[in-house]
Amino acid sequence: MSAEVAGSNLALAADVIRVDETIRSLRRTLKEASSVVALTGAGISAESGIRTFRGAGGLWRQYRPEKLATPEAFERDPKLVWEWYDWRRAVIQAAKPNPGHAALAELESRTVKQGGSFTLITQNVDGLHDRAGSRGIVKLHGDIWTVRCVGCGRSERNDQVPLLPLPPHCECGALMRPGVVWFGEPLPEDEWERATKACAAAQIVLVIGTSATVYPAAGLAQAAQQAGAKMAVVNPEPTALDEMAEWVLRGPSGELLPGLL
Ligand code: OAD
Repeated sequence: MSAEVAGSNLALAADVIRVDETIRSLRRTLKEASSVVALTGAGISAESGIRTFRGAGGLWRQYRPEKLATPEAFERDPKLVWEWYDWRRAVIQAAKPNPGHAALAELESRTVKQGGSFTLITQNVDGLHDRAGSRGIVKLHGDIWTVRCVGCGRSERNDQVPLLPLPPHCECGALMRPGVVWFGEPLPEDEWERATKACAAAQIVLVIGTSATVYPAAGLAQAAQQAGAKMAVVNPEPTALDEMAEWVLRGPSGELLPGLL
């Protein structure tokens, strides 16, 4: 074996030991914690085969959000916007929750059984956390499986794939829109209130699979930390929050999160 190869193997072994130690330390702290918040983004569903928005292969690298994810785009061309959401619903329906989603559901159930509180705040609209068994999820950006009338405001669950006819209409005659938050729209008030309350009381905030670049959601982790929570970041890539975090787990959440149980 050449010296160079031996050296790189040693560096690799040191990395593995460091990750193991970080996981062990975070696992110990999570076991004792009575108030935990997890903030998730598109990355947690990446291993289920759902594309993220900004990284390599990200949706916003191929599509322009202002054409597909704004109220103005919907007003201009509701059929085009619906076709895009219909395609995403088909991809998501065919996908399954991965071990990362399952680990968070189990962490919640364990924390609650011990008398603690666990709040899962997600920016995802895919519903995979629900399917993995998480409860009381705070959905900051809505849910792709709900549709809402732009006229009377009626909202309902809709699992139909493909959704026909496109665009769908309400009984009142007005258009139905996807029940998600678009660029330029405020977050749902009750969800935001639940999120900020949970962050203010958190002992630990886990920031998983998010680039933490879209506000106000990205500000929640910082708010939790300012209120006294310790922060852990789980992401294969560096993020803006890494330097504030007590633990940085660099890798895919589907592989790393089960190790926290
Ligand atoms: P982004 O696409 O901005 O970021 C995804 C993050 O996931 C990146 O930091 C990746 O490094 C990370 N990632 C990739 N694979 C991963 C894996 N296997 N395990 C863990 N992490 C992984 O997605 P979000 O931060 O969720 O909003 O984006 C926030 C919001 O921007 C979305 O909710 C959406 C989007 O525009 C709206 O549509 C309003």
